[in-house]
Amino acid sequence: MKSASASHKVEWLLSLGTSFQASQVLFESVRLGLFDLLDGAWLHAGSIASSLSLAPAAVERLLRVLIEMGILAKKGPCYRNTALSKKYLCAASSFYIGDFFMHRQSLQQPWSELKASLKNNFMVRPDRNRLADYPRQLKKFTGAMDALGRLKSEHIMAHLALADTGRMLDLGGGIGTYAVHFSTRHPHLQAVVCDLPDVVRLAQRNIQKAGLQKRVSAVEGECLFDPLPPGPFDLVFISNLLHIYNEADCKRIVKKAAAALTKGGTLVVHDYIFGCGDSVSVSLFDMTMLIGTPQGRCYEQADIARWLRAAGIKKIQSAEILAGTSLLWGEKS
Ligand SMILES: C[S@@+](CC[C@H](N)C(=O)[O-])C[C@H]1O[C@@H](n2cnc3c(N)ncnc32)[C@H](O)[C@@H]1O
Repeated sequence: MKSASASHKVEWLLSLGTSFQASQVLFESVRLGLFDLLDGAWLHAGSIASSLSLAPAAVERLLRVLIEMGILAKKGPCYRNTALSKKYLCAASSFYIGDFFMHRQSLQQPWSELKASLKNNFMVRPDRNRLADYPRQLKKFTGAMDALGRLKSEHIMAHLALADTGRMLDLGGGIGTYAVHFSTRHPHLQAVVCDLPDVVRLAQRNIQKAGLQKRVSAVEGECLFDPLPPGPFDLVFISNLLHIYNEADCKRIVKKAAAALTKGGTLVVHDYIFGCGDSVSVSLFDMTMLIGTPQGRCYEQADIARWLRAAGIKKIQSAEILAGTSLLWGEKS
């Protein structure tokens, strides 16, 4: 998301007041499976409504919004996906990012508690229903991480010398999106994904689905207190992990990661970082950490670079990736 330019400040400001409506239209259309229904077929509003068990008149109004937003196409009385919705919103596509929207929809409830978080500088404890729904929320969350990771992997790989990397550790690696993607592109690469037990089970399934069990493994580990998987590694990748923790914990994670590297190995931090990346996206993500984690926040590039140097990492470089995230990496001296 970009900040307002001087020439369209009022329109931009007004559009902020209605952007939640556009989000809701998109969330509900993805949740209904509307784009899957329209994958390849021109359909009448009536048959869309009957397939989705909805009121035909209301569906026509929903379709009209999607047409106006350029997400669907219309020919005569029939509707179909555009190239954009076909590529990103149909579950059969390898670029599918529907899980990202489902996770964003699930953030509406914690975001509705913003007032209380602002008063207390602390997240509101999730209610009993939300806690009981944890397995479903975890699937949505890891699915969203995976969707973003699949979009970002190529951009990240462009900055890393993976052709010279033998072993990598993906710390807090989720379902192994990056480890799988990097290893698919670099057939000599061996990767270890380390994450918490419930996530590791999903990672193992993902690695198996990619047929990479011989080169990519997923192991349970709590990176603050447990020893890290046995190294040394040529590369340690820490993606979207530091923003969950306070500064002392981040320093501890960085120090342990650096210790697991070979001499000359590369430590990589990928995150929403103040000072690189789109600043509106980073600051909104920082608020998401305020309402959704006990101690998480986004950090300044200078702070993370300082932690890396203190852990013996030199020649630090940075690059903007996509949708607000950036990369910071350097070499173990
Ligand atoms: C925001 S997700 C990022 C996943 C993946 N690295 C990515 O960028 O898509 C953070 C991941 O870190 C894991 N995690 C959080 N705290 C951890 C800890 N103390 N030890 C190991 N993994 C942790 C979570 O379970 C989750 O999978």
